[in-house]
Amino acid sequence: MSVRRLAEDQFQPAAFAFSDENAVWAEKTIQKYPAGRQQSAVIPLLMRAQEQDGWVTRPAIEKIADMLDMAYIRVLEVATFYTQFQLHPVGTRAHVQVCGTTPCMLRGSEKLMGVCRSKIHQHPFERNAEGTLSWEEVECLGACVNAPMVMIGKDTYEDLTPERLEEIIDTFAAGNGTSVKVGPQIDRHLSSPEGGPTTLLDDVTVTRTRAGKAPAAADGAPVPPSEAARPKSTDAETNASLKTPATSPKASAKNAKAAEVQPLSGTAASEPAPKATAAETTAKPSLTDKNRPAGIEKPAAPDDLKMISGVGPKIEATLHEIGIFTFAQIAGWKKAEREWVDSFLNFRGRIERDDWVKQAKALAKGGEAEYIKVFGKKPR
Ligand code: FES
Repeated sequence: MSVRRLAEDQFQPAAFAFSDENAVWAEKTIQKYPAGRQQSAVIPLLMRAQEQDGWVTRPAIEKIADMLDMAYIRVLEVATFYTQFQLHPVGTRAHVQVCGTTPCMLRGSEKLMGVCRSKIHQHPFERNAEGTLSWEEVECLGACVNAPMVMIGKDTYEDLTPERLEEIIDTFAAGNGTSVKVGPQIDRHLSSPEGGPTTLLDDVTVTRTRAGKAPAAADGAPVPPSEAARPKSTDAETNASLKTPATSPKASAKNAKAAEVQPLSGTAASEPAPKATAAETTAKPSLTDKNRPAGIEKPAAPDDLKMISGVGPKIEATLHEIGIFTFAQIAGWKKAEREWVDSFLNFRGRIERDDWVKQAKALAKGGEAEYIKVFGKKPR
């Protein structure tokens, strides 16, 4: 981390003034804060001064301090604390801030700084011969998940390789910086996994085969590569999934019809069931299956099923739709019933893994106190 000092006198201008437009903006910004709190505008004003002149000069710091009725040292403290403020003249087309904190360092930030040394200047804060580029090392910029990364202006460029950073620097040097894609530089959406999402795939039901073939989405959609790379299910898991009632397209249609016409316990019969996707229609067990746990009418004070680890608001609402409202009901589920619900929720064994029955038994017996006694921790 560099020592942050004001630029030497030779670089400092004699005075600073906001442009007419920026002066109007600054006045409006200051007025946003209650009387006596105008100094809260110090960061926006310093940023505007930097955007106007390219860096934060000593006269700008003093001018802003006067405008906000602050001691010069207080504004200097802010300007020298945040690396977003440039205290020296920087490249007119790009000032590259390379994150050198641990995650980025482990993922190759040293090599990125090597690129900056060779393409811009051997030393940070020194400009290239044309005065268009400069660079520095900074601390974590908050995009560690896509390390290594750099920031140029207000944008971040992530998942970098030395080669990609060279291309980016060349593009900025040519004055075409706005054409560079910001954010991840690989096949990744924001901070999602490489190659596509692997969780919360509401519309994709992944099935595994006993033969261990590559998994395929039930609706024919491609399975993300990371999903394909996951360990295969155990025999127990496979057997459990094979016990899920198999349904032909014809049967599925019948089941879907049954779902429409069968009044759900405790649910207004007129309330339309959520539309099932093609995958869900195929995978879900029949609502008329003998293993479906018995539902009840909604009691005046249903239990808070979300206290069970693994049950969130969405799952609780689904349980309500099939007439499950109390801990006692869940505590009494037999294996076949658990499998039916697990399959209905497309949980792939989670009910067993989270041991809903044991949790529900404790909650039904003595609420939170009993739960703590059994599990040694509070329920959710
Ligand atoms: S460590 Fe580099 S962005 Fe956080």
